[in-house]
Amino acid sequence: MYVNPNKKIKFIDLPYGDKSITHRYFICAALASSKSVITNANISMDTLATADCMTAIGAKFVFEGRKVTVAPIVKPNKNVTLNCFNSATTARLLAGVVSGLNISATFIGDESLSKRPMERVINPLRLMGANIEKPPDCLFKILPSKLTGISYAMPVASAQVKSAILFAGLFAQGETTVTESIPTRDHTEIALKHFGALIDNSGGIIKVNKSRLKGRSVFVPNDFSTAAYFLAVGLKKGIKLKKVGVNPTRRAFLDMLIASGAKILLKNEKEKNGEKFADIKVLRSDIKPFKSNIEQSAAMIDEIPIACLTAALAEGESVFTGVEELAVKESDRIKSTIAMLNAFGVTAKYEDNALRVIGKKILEGGKTVPATSDHRIVMASIVGALLSQKGIKISDSGCVNVSCPNFWQLLSINPFKWGLIGNDIKQSKSPQIYKILSEITGININYSLLTANEDNFDEVFLKAKNCLDGINLTMPFKQCLNEEEVNTVACIGLKTILYNTDATAVTVALKSKKISVKGKNLLVVGCGGAATAAIKKLISQGAKITVRNRTKSKTKELKKHCKLYNDTKFFGILSFIPIDYLSYVSKNEILNADFVFDAYYFTQTALIREAKLHKKLVIDGFSMLLNQAFSNFEIWTGKKLTANQKRKAEAIFRSQNENTRY
Ligand code: S3P
Repeated sequence: MYVNPNKKIKFIDLPYGDKSITHRYFICAALASSKSVITNANISMDTLATADCMTAIGAKFVFEGRKVTVAPIVKPNKNVTLNCFNSATTARLLAGVVSGLNISATFIGDESLSKRPMERVINPLRLMGANIEKPPDCLFKILPSKLTGISYAMPVASAQVKSAILFAGLFAQGETTVTESIPTRDHTEIALKHFGALIDNSGGIIKVNKSRLKGRSVFVPNDFSTAAYFLAVGLKKGIKLKKVGVNPTRRAFLDMLIASGAKILLKNEKEKNGEKFADIKVLRSDIKPFKSNIEQSAAMIDEIPIACLTAALAEGESVFTGVEELAVKESDRIKSTIAMLNAFGVTAKYEDNALRVIGKKILEGGKTVPATSDHRIVMASIVGALLSQKGIKISDSGCVNVSCPNFWQLLSINPFKWGLIGNDIKQSKSPQIYKILSEITGININYSLLTANEDNFDEVFLKAKNCLDGINLTMPFKQCLNEEEVNTVACIGLKTILYNTDATAVTVALKSKKISVKGKNLLVVGCGGAATAAIKKLISQGAKITVRNRTKSKTKELKKHCKLYNDTKFFGILSFIPIDYLSYVSKNEILNADFVFDAYYFTQTALIREAKLHKKLVIDGFSMLLNQAFSNFEIWTGKKLTANQKRKAEAIFRSQNENTRY
């Protein structure tokens, strides 16, 4: 697609958690002895690869948007295949973990990962006693063995290799020591310490001893490597970024910009779980060329492509030494960075062991960036296009899913693309709700309706997954993806995360009317998908549920998982049947109840009419519909709606529908 230059870039502050730190927290949480909660996690193809691998071994990950609860591995599965997709961090860090777990695991990955060097982790792990084979059809295969601590001097500057050895050290007999001549990111050391490992990182030598990690609640700062693209935008347009990780081993690009004359202010500097973060304000500024030495290049290894593009905005030659490692990243980034810069009319070359960029203060554009599926090259190209004179053509836009699926939306280039799959959805209110939310928040949303039938659901879903960022499912497809009821799907590249936001929507609607169901008798009418999910949620909040419905086998099935009652006097009555009649509830029961809820919202139902007649507290289906849409919005964008925005959306929606219902 062609990305045009943009004089007035609209940047939406949709924070994105740090990928490196999220990998570490997912792993530590899965290895701990108790539950962990990770907030503001990076949810991308890479980190989901780590979560899925840890799940294959035996951990359980529950996603609520960017909050992830991890139940650790109790007994590891003995023989697993771990698909690391594009993620070298997953493959290398888990090589260390799996070597220590005494299990068999076959590691596989995509075409790009299959070309990347793995000997760098295999060799030290073998020295520790790991039994690793390298058959041609996979990345490598690990077989059970016992580990012993080693002292290892790092031959390459690699945080992934260091981390693999440290993770293996948690399971090894005796002490494991790693020394680095060139420091690399220290997130593993910090995370291990925070999760309770016996680790010491003083005087440039890292020592770890056999330890059992403990579950923790941790916050992930926003990703400095993603923020780097916005720092470049900020030099031209000005920008503010919140809660960005500024760990000293990661912030080299920031320090280089400041040293080159960029006007950058850091505010609200804080630290959580040992990781530093701050708000960053960038003012429009002119910069001088960069000179990056070996240490600086290692500390901004993932930022080199955007740093080179930024260097083109200075007048003169910028020099990056010690960048050999770039040749073995997701692409050969020495070549792909030069090719990208050339497409912008910038002279760049690799000469005398250094990457050199001759800046002329402008990016021309008008050409095509050679095809690549390297996320960092594509993200740098997008930023370059916005800052250029003529824009640029970029081939693969989907690969941003590897680290920051919302990248296009952060820059307001592409809208969020969401949609609903159902059978009879012409009258759906969802497009209307998301239009209101778009107007209130200023975030662009395209919401489409996709009709499917039982025969073509799989096909429609696959198509939707390939072109949408978020999918809602309605009748009769809520139980098609999982045994549990699913009404919301987040699509992250080839991966999906399944959610039920209907059930919480009911409890949130009750809570907003100050109704507490703890210890109370409730009558639930209906036992379909939405009712079942709500019943489970209400029981988890201490309610005693009586169910009345047509199909007895469904209640029988539900009784296997939930304790149900058979009462006749109720504090509240909740109806989930998609029709308007009263045969399951007596007028007396309505008279004796405190509140009545009806999920059906197309007309005012007989149940609601009767409840209103007796001046009962009434909660209609619109409350549930709106609450699930608010949750979906938050899951898909990562942005919390304020109470005020929710109130405003509800008022607009109700006023638009006032006359259509009653
Ligand atoms: C990473 C370390 C770096 C970096 C990669 C993430 C990590 O790789 O380039 O994107 O999370 O440990 P190397 O360890 O190969 O330098």
